[in-house]
Amino acid sequence: MSLELTRDPLEWRTERFVMRPLERTDAPELLALFGDPAVVEFMDIDPLEDLEEAYGVIDWAQSRRREGLGARWSIRPEGGGPLIGTCGFNTLELERGRRGEVAYDLARAYWGKGVMSEILPELVGIGFDGLELRRLEAFVTPGNAASCRLLERHGFAREGQLRDHGFWKGRFWDQFIYARIDQRAD
Ligand SMILES: CC(C)(COP(=O)(O)OP(=O)(O)OC[C@H]1O[C@@H](n2cnc3c(N)ncnc32)[C@H](O)[C@@H]1OP(=O)(O)O)[C@@H](O)C(=O)NCCC(=O)NCCS
Repeated sequence: MSLELTRDPLEWRTERFVMRPLERTDAPELLALFGDPAVVEFMDIDPLEDLEEAYGVIDWAQSRRREGLGARWSIRPEGGGPLIGTCGFNTLELERGRRGEVAYDLARAYWGKGVMSEILPELVGIGFDGLELRRLEAFVTPGNAASCRLLERHGFAREGQLRDHGFWKGRFWDQFIYARIDQRAD
C-alpha cells in the first residue's frame, strides 16, 4: 500500500470506528470537542469559543493535507454516530527524512475505554506502510499520563524532555518527545 495523501479519499476503519478526513460540516461537533477545557488541557490550543475557530482548525487540516504536510481524520463509531475525536499527522517530512508526528484526541466521555488503543495501531500502519515513514513522533505535555501510557503500550519510546519547547496559553511548556522507528526491514 502506498498512499498519496493529497489524492486518496483515505477513509479507513477499525473494528468499531471509521475515520474520515475532517470536513467543514464537522465544525459544530469539533467545536463541542475542542470547546471542552479538559480535552485541550494538555494540547497546544485554547478551548475553542465559536464556530469560526472550528472552521479555522478544519481549514488548517485541509490545507496540510492538500500540501502533503499532514492529515487529520474525524473519528466516528462504525455504522454512524457523533464525532468522538480526531487523529492524524500534524506534520510529515517526506523529503529530508521519513517522519510523521502523530496526534489524537477524544471527547471526555470516551476516555479510558480503549478507543485510542484500537485506533493507534492502524494509524501507525498508515504511517509505516502507507506513507513509508521511518520514524513516528509524538509530543506530549508532561502530566498527560494517558497519552504517555498509550504511546508506551504501542512501541513508542520517550527520547527526552524538550525544555520550554512550546508556547501557548500564555506560557512556555516542556514537551516529552516520543518516537517509534520502523525497523522491520533492518
Ligand atoms: C490521550 C487519549 C487520546 C487516550 O485515549 P484513550 O482511548 O482514553 O486511551 P486508552 O483507553 O486506549 O488507554 C491507553 C492506555 O492508557 C491508560 N490510561 C488511560 N487513561 C489514563 C489515565 N488518565 N492515567 C493513566 N493511564 C491511563 C490505559 O489504562 C491504557 O493502558 P493499558 O493498555 O496499560 O491499560 C485521551 O485520554 C484523550 O483524548 N485525552 C485528551 C486529549 C489529549 O490529551 N490528546 C493527546 C495529546 S498528546
